Amino acid sequence: MLVQTAALAKRFQMGENVVTALQGVDLAVPENAFCQILGPSGSGKSTLLHLLGGLDRPSQGSIQVDGEPIDRMDENGLARFRRQKVGFIFQSYNLITSMTALENVSFPMQFAGIPKRQRKARAQELLERVGMADRADHKPGELSGGQQQRVAVARALVNTPRLILADEPTGNLDTASGENIMELLAELQRDGATVVMVTHDTRLTKFSTHQVHLLDGRIVPSPNGKPKKSRSRSR
Ligand SMILES: Nc1ncnc2c1ncn2[C@@H]1O[C@H](COP(=O)(O)OP(=O)(O)OP(=O)(O)O)[C@@H](O)[C@H]1O
Ligand SMILES: [Mg+2]
Repeated sequence: MLVQTAALAKRFQMGENVVTALQGVDLAVPENAFCQILGPSGSGKSTLLHLLGGLDRPSQGSIQVDGEPIDRMDENGLARFRRQKVGFIFQSYNLITSMTALENVSFPMQFAGIPKRQRKARAQELLERVGMADRADHKPGELSGGQQQRVAVARALVNTPRLILADEPTGNLDTASGENIMELLAELQRDGATVVMVTHDTRLTKFSTHQVHLLDGRIVPSPNGKPKKSRSRSR
């Protein structure tokens, strides 16, 4: 398993009250899966992704990613884990508005100590991969939503992450741009990455190998009673 959680729980203290965002989550995502997380608003989907990516800490339970016990890591360990193994793609593209597409993609590589020329070459290669090479010098404000999301995908790929976490990556996009991003994610999965994606869009089900339904912070059986199993793929 690339991702394995046991009895995972997350509670938020809100003044006098405690909000239980996740409880008793036992999740297993095999290597190279395309796992779709479904569930109503407030069911804990984003919270789960944050925990899997080491952006937040569980209240209880354990998380293993690629053999690493991330619930037991300190902040430095988590920062290293995120940098080496995880690519994040969110609904809001989180691009730096004052930087060009190329600069946005090369920026995270600074922290990995990669020399400038190499950063630029790698960023260019990734922009090509997402079909954005001809917009490398554009700033986010000079790009469409779909184009900005493709730049964000390129940026998520700089360190060739083992795990790609996507939180409604197509939520702000028109149908064609959304399909484009999904196909890109499916391609990354075919190339060996494991993708865990939150989406409300059931049309995207054709891309997934696994589905997980959340309700009130727990994993529940699929509403239609037919949990999707891993399908075999030719390589
Ligand atoms: N930082 C926080 N502090 C307090 N409560 C939080 C925090 N983050 C999430 N919650 C609560 O935890 C629950 C789960 O939130 P989460 O964002 O994971 O839901 P979601 O399934 O992603 O919903 P949506 O589909 O609307 O994005 C909600 O009740 C939310 O109010
Ligand atoms: Mg959410």
